Amino acid sequence: MTDLATLESAVLAQISAAADLPALDAVRVATIGKKGSVSELMSKLGSLPADERKAFGQTVNALKTRVSSLLDARKAELETAALSQRLATERADITLPVRVGPEAAGRIHPVSQVLDEVIEIFASLGFAVAEGPDIESDDNNFTKLNVPADHPARQEHDTFYFQPKADGARPLLRTHTSPVQIRTMLAQKPPIRIIAPGRVYRCDSDQTHTPMFHQIEGLVIDESTHMGHLKWTLEAFAKAFFEVDEVKMRFRASHFPFTEPSMEVDIGAEAIGKPGQWLEILGCGMVHPNVLRNCGLEPERYQGFAFGVGLDRLAMLKYGIPDLRQFFAADVRWLSHYGFPVLDVPTLGGGISS
Ligand code: DAH
Repeated sequence: MTDLATLESAVLAQISAAADLPALDAVRVATIGKKGSVSELMSKLGSLPADERKAFGQTVNALKTRVSSLLDARKAELETAALSQRLATERADITLPVRVGPEAAGRIHPVSQVLDEVIEIFASLGFAVAEGPDIESDDNNFTKLNVPADHPARQEHDTFYFQPKADGARPLLRTHTSPVQIRTMLAQKPPIRIIAPGRVYRCDSDQTHTPMFHQIEGLVIDESTHMGHLKWTLEAFAKAFFEVDEVKMRFRASHFPFTEPSMEVDIGAEAIGKPGQWLEILGCGMVHPNVLRNCGLEPERYQGFAFGVGLDRLAMLKYGIPDLRQFFAADVRWLSHYGFPVLDVPTLGGGISS
């Protein structure tokens, strides 16, 4: 029993001497831990005469309980002291800016942003969005668009062909979004009013050409659609897209097999803050009667217009991006410079660009 009293006062001294939480924990392990001095007392139980065991056991347990509650009390004391110490020394500067999280650091690619802008504008004019596959048939990409086999216009499109299939048909990567016109006219009756954005492919690569790029096709077919509608629509689009009240437009005679007449459209570069130049932005025209016929529509009854715009080119013009190849280089420095904040969603009401 004297041993116990000595042990107890030694333990109490250690507890009050423990200067911090790790030191206190060491005392806990050394006393009431599995192999600690207090716990080990229990192993003596077996060597005691039977009539002393109960009293000894109770005494040791009571000691263990006292040690344990002293440890807890000292622990609380040390924790409070540690907290007061931190409160006294640490300062939170609540005037610092909020740390940037992933939503704020992420960027929307200019192609995606400009696509959303264009869709928003045409949606407000009543156009639906149509889609077609990247791998197309020769028939949809060329023949039904009034570009028969051996037509010289095929050579202007540096086409990526696949191996011919057993039936001789040669699938290809679509060279333009115009086959979506065909798909739409085959699938639905006029009135038709769609835009069809998507990737297109041509075997071509330099500062202004990449083997994959993006176009947006437009198609309007009805019974009395005429060129005035085409010009008005494109002008409304150009004003909304470049966010200017007036835009100078020039329609130049051109040639596409799927339109008659065909035009290329330039805008006055003052729309992008560079007066004195013309910038080509798209090709368009009245849908060729052969194309209508190829899709089962009688040209005597239906007519309409179509246009094709380079989406990447629109992005380059509007946002002053010089090199097309960088669009597809996946360089995060480029993206954080030219990209758009995630929550900067283009709307006509809220503003096409912020
Ligand atoms: N498909 C043409 C191209 O890739 C662009 C084009 C021109 C589309 C005139 C049209 C159009 O719908 O009417 O160069």
